[in-house]
Amino acid sequence: MRTWCGSLNLSYRGKDVLLKGWVQRVRDLGSLVFADIRDRTGLVQVVGGRELARLRPEWVVEVRGTVREREAKNPNLPTGDVEVEVKEIRVLNPSRTPPFPISDEIEVSEEVRLRFRYIDLRRPKMQRNLLLRHRMSMAVRKFLDSQGFVEIETPILTRSTPEGARDFLVPSRNYPGRFYALPQSPQLFKQILMISGFERYFQFARCFRDEDLRADRQPEFTQIDLEMSFVEEEDVMRVAEGLMREAFSVAGIELEPPFPVMSYREAMERYGTDSPDLRIPYEIKDLSGFGPGGNRIVGQALEAGGRLLGMKVPGGLSRREIETLEERVKSAGAKGLLWMKRSEKGFSGSLRGEEAWRERIAEALSLGEGDLALFMAGIGVEKFMGFLRQAVAELKKIELEGFKALWIVDFPLFERDEEGRLASNHHPFTSPKEEDLSILEEEPLKVRARAYDLVLNGVEIGGGSIRIHRSQVQRRVLRLLGVEESKFSFLLKALDYGAPPHGGIAFGFDRMVMMAAGEESIRDVIAFPKTTSALCLFTGAPSGVAPEQLEELKIKIIS
Ligand code: AMO
Repeated sequence: MRTWCGSLNLSYRGKDVLLKGWVQRVRDLGSLVFADIRDRTGLVQVVGGRELARLRPEWVVEVRGTVREREAKNPNLPTGDVEVEVKEIRVLNPSRTPPFPISDEIEVSEEVRLRFRYIDLRRPKMQRNLLLRHRMSMAVRKFLDSQGFVEIETPILTRSTPEGARDFLVPSRNYPGRFYALPQSPQLFKQILMISGFERYFQFARCFRDEDLRADRQPEFTQIDLEMSFVEEEDVMRVAEGLMREAFSVAGIELEPPFPVMSYREAMERYGTDSPDLRIPYEIKDLSGFGPGGNRIVGQALEAGGRLLGMKVPGGLSRREIETLEERVKSAGAKGLLWMKRSEKGFSGSLRGEEAWRERIAEALSLGEGDLALFMAGIGVEKFMGFLRQAVAELKKIELEGFKALWIVDFPLFERDEEGRLASNHHPFTSPKEEDLSILEEEPLKVRARAYDLVLNGVEIGGGSIRIHRSQVQRRVLRLLGVEESKFSFLLKALDYGAPPHGGIAFGFDRMVMMAAGEESIRDVIAFPKTTSALCLFTGAPSGVAPEQLEELKIKIIS
């Protein structure tokens, strides 16, 4: 019977074992040859004669031998107390020299890693990450099962489910000119399952969104998707908190529910973002109330209906650092950055103006000697201040430790898109607050949604809402969005056959694992991710197809 390499220790002393795995490295000392043999669980040293000398890294081998105590122990290796004296070794398959060593300390581009993903995934870190992913998914499944949730699969070939991104389309051969869409989420199906009486549904659901990619975004990703009937916001939030606690505890991270709740408005005012990282100690203050103070830029901004926002940076920054920050916020789209420093000689900086006004601003920000304050004036500068807050924390190398979870609630139901049209802030099936229904048509931008987002250390980990369960309300919302009813007639019809009040949430599972593993990119917790330019370097997808295939689908490529 096979013994795992990583399990060997002194309790095996004198025992015969059979190891199977890969050669990590070989040290040839002449009459004695050492090799490290690796499997999923770790590596162990084997020792023998010349028969080991021909082994090369990544050859696949089977070793029979006896475990003995090592003379020179290796305290850095979990199996470092023992070694296996080889009796017999069989090479099951030789290997070409790998493009990079199987080690966590490699200097190799992500492109090469993704092209040779099978080699990359042999590295201990990647093995750990995917094992953690598995264990987190098992913990979540166990938790949801214990809470009465039923896992139900929903289709991949379906109709467009709007979540704000572009769809991936799949042409239909049977119906030329018609297309399936890959689901951006199982949103509509899970609502239908509530109408079908399942009460509590969940799914590890693959979602597809054709959008710009970033470190925490992939064109296909995994959601832990759930939905519940006869619930209010708090019911879903409590289940979500339990799920998060169970999932993260697998990685030894303690999250302590209930998580604090903050309104969207407060988050925007204080942190300039709807997904603030509460570990960053800076807060934004609205200073518009102090007026223009003789400052032309501020005066113009206030007159145009904009605001003056400021943020204190304790201990200040150098001129050069302020310039770097200004460049960064400008490349993010901001017009500029003003600053003011307090020293024993008084105020200095580009926020010029009346002395009393500067004094009042300094007081509002509790600016002490040696402190700096950064300002932006204009319309919509909140989000740039949010960006600035993050950038200053990076520049100051603020240690961001621990985990801070937070609910954001009271989102506006709608926003204006780039063309000025009304668009859903989440998706069109989110319920407005009952008390705001009366102003739905008159003042849609004032209507609040029954939505909640879960933010962990500044990353949006999940989002959900109580849904619209009455068809006439759903019709009103679709009409406001300018969406044809016929597109969702199947939903509208289903709502009329006894739809219970319901709500749910979906978590970005890749993001959860990324954070629990302490990784910076979700690509490091996905076995076969796409690059930021949406390519699968391993298989070469997307690829061209044979002309006959296109013909069958009645598709012509125009370039
Ligand atoms: P939402 O669009 O907020 O909600 O998605 C839920 C969570 O999924 C994660 N996520 C992503 N992760 C990786 N790559 C992406 N491209 C990506 N896009 C989103 C985020 C996000 O919080 N149907 C609703 C849920 C509901 O209302 O129940 C939905 O999909 O962590």
